[in-house]
Amino acid sequence: MKIEFQTQQIPEVSVNVLATYSFEDSPSSSGTVECLPAETRRLLDELHANRELTGKSYECTLIHRPPGLAANKLLVVGAGKKDKFNSAQLRRLAGTAARHLRARGVHELAWVSNGASLDVESLQAAVEGAITADYDADRYRTERNGERRIDNLWLATNGAEPTSASRAALERGRIIAEAQNFARDLVNEPSNLMTPTLLARRAQEMATRYGLDCQVLGPQEIQAMKMGAFWGVAQGSEEPPRLIVLRYTHPDAAAEPVIGLIGKGITFDTGGISIKPSESMHEMKTDMAGGASMLGVMSAIAQLKPRARVIALVPATENMPSGKAYKPGDVLTSMSGKTIEILNTDAEGRLVLADALTYAKQLGCTVLIDAATLTGAVTIALGNITTGVFGWNQDWVNRVLRSAAAAGEKMWQLPVDDDYREQYKSIIADLANTGGRYGGAITAAMFVGEFAGDTPWVHLDIAGTRWSNEEKPYLAKGPTGHPVRTLVHLLTHLEV
Ligand code: BES
Ligand code: MN
Ligand code: ZN
Repeated sequence: MKIEFQTQQIPEVSVNVLATYSFEDSPSSSGTVECLPAETRRLLDELHANRELTGKSYECTLIHRPPGLAANKLLVVGAGKKDKFNSAQLRRLAGTAARHLRARGVHELAWVSNGASLDVESLQAAVEGAITADYDADRYRTERNGERRIDNLWLATNGAEPTSASRAALERGRIIAEAQNFARDLVNEPSNLMTPTLLARRAQEMATRYGLDCQVLGPQEIQAMKMGAFWGVAQGSEEPPRLIVLRYTHPDAAAEPVIGLIGKGITFDTGGISIKPSESMHEMKTDMAGGASMLGVMSAIAQLKPRARVIALVPATENMPSGKAYKPGDVLTSMSGKTIEILNTDAEGRLVLADALTYAKQLGCTVLIDAATLTGAVTIALGNITTGVFGWNQDWVNRVLRSAAAAGEKMWQLPVDDDYREQYKSIIADLANTGGRYGGAITAAMFVGEFAGDTPWVHLDIAGTRWSNEEKPYLAKGPTGHPVRTLVHLLTHLEV
């Protein structure tokens, strides 16, 4: 999608579709419709009186040959209640416009970006909304929706000249949204086409393209480094595991923090010997969504170049049943030296994360943030809407929550508390790998946190938010790319 500013007066913009939004109750005098000529607004009032245009969220009204405009058509997207409006809603409105139009064979639109919508936050949000909306998870369909793409997006400024700040906002929005779509592409791949080896190859390609340092470790190195927990999961699969390590260092970055981004990279989770029911097992091709999102984040910061030091680690393996697979009752010795009794081979994510966290600390990370499709329990607690956030260090938890709010990804903190530790004690070993049904998202998080030790650590359980089961007006059904935007925001705002 080509995105450019268009600085003509709005009535003069001659484009196929001019798109804007209006609020409930006052369609012709709120939102960006205010800059439309009086005759256009009179028509909107008429449509409102006939209840054809209500301003309710994501309602689309397409007006052909709009009076007073050079554009062929005017699309008005309902923006909902004015007092609930923010940049997250604006992102969705721009996305709704793009999706509505591409479904109707339209390939270009001008998004009215004047007045309040010309600030940098709004510009970035509109660009992100349009690019993430112009995506479908239909890669292997012979007739692809994706061929119905938006080729050109104009940000129509109604005569205002873009500043260097607004140009930067456009570019930032493009980079972040493309990083999010990159993560979605990886998550969407089926496990036969996204093995640990292929995931590492994608990481390597991305790193070469954007100039990141990339190292990929294989089974020999994983065993030699005594990553017994990671290897325990990997040993049952014919596909060799990979530990992907990506480094980003800004030349002027302070010595600390060194941020470790650890993403769960299970390319398929059968459950292992504690095998999952077949019903929704196919969904477990997405069990590398945490790892995919960390690769997306790295691709964005490699281009945005914040003053930061970041190391991303993605332990990638399948979790398979086989004659070589680990079994319930087995005891594994993790890289940290802590021993783990396996009560359920389906609680594999926390095992691969355990060794990746230990290695991240060894590499010098002073803050650890992990993203993982860790538990079904978090989806019971928060549904598909909200990511669960965990951590002992409230300062870093707050930073993540603030970035999530700014980036328009919903997150909610759940507790960690010493009283839950009883649940994952073992008689034979230091820890057991499950803590039972009750508080399953919390005990899983805390198990991972045991390997962070005193290092500030934040855990994001994205089992619910990795995938959207429904088509939204502004987003395709399928992989969401959470929490790419939040983490990019965090890493580009470390100095505040
Ligand atoms: N990958 C799953 C969690 C998951 C569930 C992700 C649904 C996405 C959607 C994880 O490895 C798992 O199997 N967790 C178990 C843990 C249990 C055995 C303690 C779970 O949540 O049931
Ligand atoms: Mn599992
Ligand atoms: Zn899993």
